Amino acid sequence: MTDTFEPGGSSMASEEITSGFPVAGAPRFDSIDAVRTGLAGVDYLADDGISGVVFLADRLAKPVLVEGPAGTGKTELAKSVARLTGSRLIRLQCYEGLDESKALYEWNYKKQLLRIQADSGQSWKELEDDIFSEEFLLARPLLEAIRSPEPVVLLVDEVDRVELETEALLLEILSEYQVSIPELGTVRATRIPLVFLTSNNTRELSEALKRRCLYLHIDYPQLDRERAIIETRVPGISQALADQVARIVRSIRTLDLKKHPSVSETLDWARTLVVLGVESIDAEQARDTLHILLKYRTDIDRTAKELAGVESPD
Ligand SMILES: Nc1ncnc2c1ncn2[C@@H]1O[C@H](COP(=O)(O)OP(=O)(O)O)[C@@H](O)[C@H]1O
Ligand SMILES: [Mg+2]
Repeated sequence: MTDTFEPGGSSMASEEITSGFPVAGAPRFDSIDAVRTGLAGVDYLADDGISGVVFLADRLAKPVLVEGPAGTGKTELAKSVARLTGSRLIRLQCYEGLDESKALYEWNYKKQLLRIQADSGQSWKELEDDIFSEEFLLARPLLEAIRSPEPVVLLVDEVDRVELETEALLLEILSEYQVSIPELGTVRATRIPLVFLTSNNTRELSEALKRRCLYLHIDYPQLDRERAIIETRVPGISQALADQVARIVRSIRTLDLKKHPSVSETLDWARTLVVLGVESIDAEQARDTLHILLKYRTDIDRTAKELAGVESPD
């Protein structure tokens, strides 16, 4: 039902156009369990909640909005799903001031200008068709994702940083999976890509965007999963040390701190201990390396005091 722009004489556009609304395509995963084991195969340890939402996102052809504290594996989830499905990862990193020209497409003005200056006696109409053709188009991540002939995982990272207008643009793209370029025509996705939007919750997203998406909250992992993540991501670590690290971090997260240690900080700490040749952490070693885990003076002091009180966490 969508009108297609007349491509203004350019023959490039008609090649881009595929008819009808993009389809969801054949399922990428057989079951929720297949998602979990598949992700584990690419070193991402998901729980039932995470694998369930990924499974549904594929079956329902809906984007996933992933929220949760920093460093809990939101970005890594999208990367891992791309690896698992053999898809190309296209990432739109959001920031304040991100606009359509950086998210969708823009014309290469400099190149157009050069083309006009190198005038070869064409009529204005011919010149116009020429400079508004594919050759002068700079495709940004959203357009790239939509017109990609290969399977794509689109990661819209830290979406809470963009302004409302850009959020509205995203919503439009994620509803239609097509882009109208007035001078060229309409570009439609051949297949709806898997889409992950991540948010660190610095502001509330619009109701409309939330409605469009499946919601996934990734919190700090349970003890077992964090231990498994450490064992997977830190080469050379013993099971005993991985267990100790996971337990200590877990107990630190119960303290009233400015910033709790995230999974990435847990991993940094575990790697540090391995490099230092530590086999079992005592209170003193823990205290001396706390700056890897915690990033505020007051948090470090507070935790050190707490650790001094409890010699062994098990
Ligand atoms: N479930 C997980 N399985 C394996 N590694 C993980 C997992 N969650 C987090 N990580 C590790 O933590 C790091 C930080 O995750 P990241 O996705 O960058 O966090 P976020 O985007 O939530 O801030 C990743 O590079 C990865 O090494
Ligand atoms: Mg991230």
